[in-house]
Amino acid sequence: MLLIGAVAFVATAAVALFIPWLPDQVSREREGIDLTFWLATWICIAIFAIVAAVIGYAVLKFRADPDDDSDGPPIHGHTGLEIAWTAVPFVLVVALGTVSAVVLTQNDRARGANPNQVSVFAQQFTWQFEHPNGVASGTLRIPVDRSTVLTLRSRDVIHSFWVKEFGQKKDVVPGIETRLVITPKRTGSFDVICTELCGLGHSLMRARVEVMPQAEYSRWLEEGGGEDAPEAGGGEAVFQQAGCGGCHAFAPAGTSAQIGPALDDLPGDDEEFVRRSIVDPDAEVAEGFQAGVMPGDYEERLSAEQLDALVQYLLEGSG
Ligand code: CUA
Repeated sequence: MLLIGAVAFVATAAVALFIPWLPDQVSREREGIDLTFWLATWICIAIFAIVAAVIGYAVLKFRADPDDDSDGPPIHGHTGLEIAWTAVPFVLVVALGTVSAVVLTQNDRARGANPNQVSVFAQQFTWQFEHPNGVASGTLRIPVDRSTVLTLRSRDVIHSFWVKEFGQKKDVVPGIETRLVITPKRTGSFDVICTELCGLGHSLMRARVEVMPQAEYSRWLEEGGGEDAPEAGGGEAVFQQAGCGGCHAFAPAGTSAQIGPALDDLPGDDEEFVRRSIVDPDAEVAEGFQAGVMPGDYEERLSAEQLDALVQYLLEGSG
């Protein structure tokens, strides 16, 4: 029995250890999450080995002869066994619950006295980020080795914020603000993924997060967002920041989503039509698409200059 258990243990432990199941660990918060994951995994492996050993042993040792049609002996339970298989899972579940609660509480707390603050806006089917000094962009930028507190808001339905290298997942719910703390351990570029089915474009609802050195981050903020800023980047920056590519294909911006009509086919000589399609999207709905899908509040969300830049950008790149 010991032999079977040892074989089962080594085989499953090898599968757990030698196949890289987890993404790179890039945040401090991931450390506690991974600890909880491995604790649960080792408990599962141990229980599997015990169960496999008992079953394997019973199959080999108590096998009936081919011509044995008799009933087995009647058994009336075993008090000791019943106490054991109640008490052991109780202890394991309480241990897992305790570790999880401690990790969750720790991960909710920003490390350091001066965490960075970023507002996250989710909307079908795009992410927008508002950094300190009011610097908005379609890419989340955060400093390395310092906590960033994300405040998450939804403009429409429930979305969920997830960066697999950071481990944490947080729902973004209309009407309430949720909060997530991230403390990256190294620089790099990672995917922000929406993990709550939020409509047609759900699978395309992605953005990038750039973890950068603090000095570079400060410079980027001082420059008002560098080339991400509408003033410097013009219509293309507005296109990125407003998340147009979440729904529309537009070759100059390299987007290919098909929730809304392709912007490559816009009439390049009809500025009035392009402008109206942005501020009053249901005034004229392209054939094959539905009214009420595109948000109607871009006139409030974009400044007059941003709107002009966006219209020019679309006119130049289409027709
Ligand atoms: Cu937003 Cu799925």
